[in-house]
Amino acid sequence: MTEQVAIITGTGGDIGRAIAIQLSQDGFAVLCVDIARELNAETVDIIKGNGGKAQALTVNILDAVDQQTMLETAKTMGAPRLLVNNVGAISGASIQESTIENWQHDFDLNLKGAVSCFKTFESDFKTNQGVVVNIASVNGYGVYGHPGYSAMKAALVHFTKFAAVEYGKFGIRINAVAPGTVRTKAWNDRAEKNPKVFEEAKRWYPLQRVADPKDIANAVSFLSSSNADAITGICLPVDCGLTAGQAELAGTFSQSSDF
Ligand SMILES: NC(=O)c1ccc[n+]([C@@H]2O[C@H](COP(=O)([O-])OP(=O)(O)OC[C@H]3O[C@@H](n4cnc5c(N)ncnc54)[C@H](O)[C@@H]3O)[C@@H](O)[C@H]2O)c1
Repeated sequence: MTEQVAIITGTGGDIGRAIAIQLSQDGFAVLCVDIARELNAETVDIIKGNGGKAQALTVNILDAVDQQTMLETAKTMGAPRLLVNNVGAISGASIQESTIENWQHDFDLNLKGAVSCFKTFESDFKTNQGVVVNIASVNGYGVYGHPGYSAMKAALVHFTKFAAVEYGKFGIRINAVAPGTVRTKAWNDRAEKNPKVFEEAKRWYPLQRVADPKDIANAVSFLSSSNADAITGICLPVDCGLTAGQAELAGTFSQSSDF
């Protein structure tokens, strides 16, 4: 039987790694794509150590030639069937602090890369009823810092809806996941500035915790599976309740101690 290939970007990072491990356990042959060779190789070693099928590819998803290499490599592994656009990065913390270069960086890594990857696999996905999951963020829904990043994540959610409507007739499903805070290496600089950053963040989450990379991987696994065959064009928050509201504020507004 032809292998079903999942292409996942940013698999050197903690969320991408957790997604790759989970999708391998779901039965996919996994193409792990990252610009960071060593971190990505570690991910592939973990998957192979678990008995899964995986291949590492060191490329820049912003490079047109690298996009073709991604497509060709995926095809040597089997039938490209699932794309997880997980690469993303923040730069300027506020509008006052952000330069136009920050905004360009945020556009490139959070939107252009995902759209480019989608276009690369578009033709195969039309014939193979492909599935796409975009990793967005709660920043696409409200103001939590990092304006360029937030605007591009909001655009990524809109792209998800747009593509779901345009490509539904081909049987392509495209959804997004919006994590809240997830403890990953991407937080290293902020955790260095303030070692209590995660403790302080918990206060705003109804579940009084932040998410783990595995929480995000579980949502991607569901949206990629046949259990989600009737779901397209949604963005699923995996945010420990953040976008539902804040208990402390509800308590102030209602003057009730029930929160
Ligand atoms: N960590 C969080 O709290 C959080 C919250 C919400 C959303 N997210 C989103 O989840 C995703 C993963 O986040 P993370 O915390 O694991 O990030 P991370 O920075 O740890 O990992 C991102 C990976 O992408 C790779 N990468 C960057 N540019 C690349 C390029 N041009 N080509 C190929 N690979 C490239 C990096 O080498 C890195 O391994 C991102 O889209 C992020 O915006 C994270």
